[in-house]
Amino acid sequence: MKARIHAPTLSNLQRLAAVLRRGGLVAIPTETVYGLAAHALDAKACRAIFQAKGRPANDPLIVHVLDLAHAEELAEFNDAARQVARRFWPGPLTIVLPKKSCVPGIVTSGGDTVALRAPAHPLARQLLRLAGVPLAAPSANPFSYISPTTAAHVQQGLGRRIRHILDGGSCTVGVESTVLDLANPSKPRILRPGAITAAQLAKVLKRKVPTKTRSAKSTARLLSPGLLDRHYSPRTSLRLTGRPAAGKLTALIFLRQPAGRQPANVYWLSQRGALDEIARNLYRVLREADTGGYREIQLEKLPATAGGLAAALNDRMKRAAAKL
Ligand code: TXA
Ligand code: MG
Repeated sequence: MKARIHAPTLSNLQRLAAVLRRGGLVAIPTETVYGLAAHALDAKACRAIFQAKGRPANDPLIVHVLDLAHAEELAEFNDAARQVARRFWPGPLTIVLPKKSCVPGIVTSGGDTVALRAPAHPLARQLLRLAGVPLAAPSANPFSYISPTTAAHVQQGLGRRIRHILDGGSCTVGVESTVLDLANPSKPRILRPGAITAAQLAKVLKRKVPTKTRSAKSTARLLSPGLLDRHYSPRTSLRLTGRPAAGKLTALIFLRQPAGRQPANVYWLSQRGALDEIARNLYRVLREADTGGYREIQLEKLPATAGGLAAALNDRMKRAAAKL
């Protein structure tokens, strides 16, 4: 049986909200990537997420909420967390805080902190409103593969393991949210870089916000599994290079569209090199190259000077290229 891709009509949203309320799984669009959602306070429903993804149980889930008021029901907020939530929610920022007892241990992998995010995507928000419950949702891909940015990507990866996918078109951000640990507000740290940058967070928090994506070879010792060296990865061997160039059996991915007609093995992430466009297209193009039957993929590195989204893009590109 294959998952159904549902158009975002009101009656479909109502039906999918009911599926979620009674413990079912629904893949949903967010502005970052598609998520595989379940009722966050229903431990059995959350266990089904881990099964569908083949995700190790020691890799905790993000809980999605409508707003700060709903988030405060699930975690112990401090002033710093309220400030960044007010500034960046709804949006691509996940905040890690001490959890309240209503959050089941399966969601936090037994830990005493929970990761919370209010997504900006209108369909995710409408579904949250209709379901009336918080939604645990990791990216809707098989564990360690490239995250999905369209309903079709979800179908390709999880189509035989889930029943419902809500179609919200292509994700506008294209890389996963920034994960900010504020469990200790005097020592904020970024566990995973994303569209909300360290500089933006530092400005609101009035202190430095270091990025601590300590790498690790296995999930056993992880602070945050996005920290796995190999993650977001195609199956084809991927190499980061200064200037992609090689024969026909290699897919070449450039940051910006090369001039003139190009052979089929040449791909690009943007027309002019804009970082937001590169982020929006990265996972789609990696998937296209990965399914093109190539022996290798070469991906052009970002220039060292690029700011803003570059930290998140560099992080994902390096992990995509990491060897097992
Ligand atoms: O943009 C996103 O964040 C997407 C959309 C669907 O919201 N979700 C996503 O989920 O990327 P996932 O499960 O693929 O990544 C969640 C990240 C992981 O790196 C996980 O380790 C970290 O958040 N995380 C979750 N709970 C945590 C916690 N209590 N402490 C530290 N890290 C946590
Ligand atoms: Mg993921």
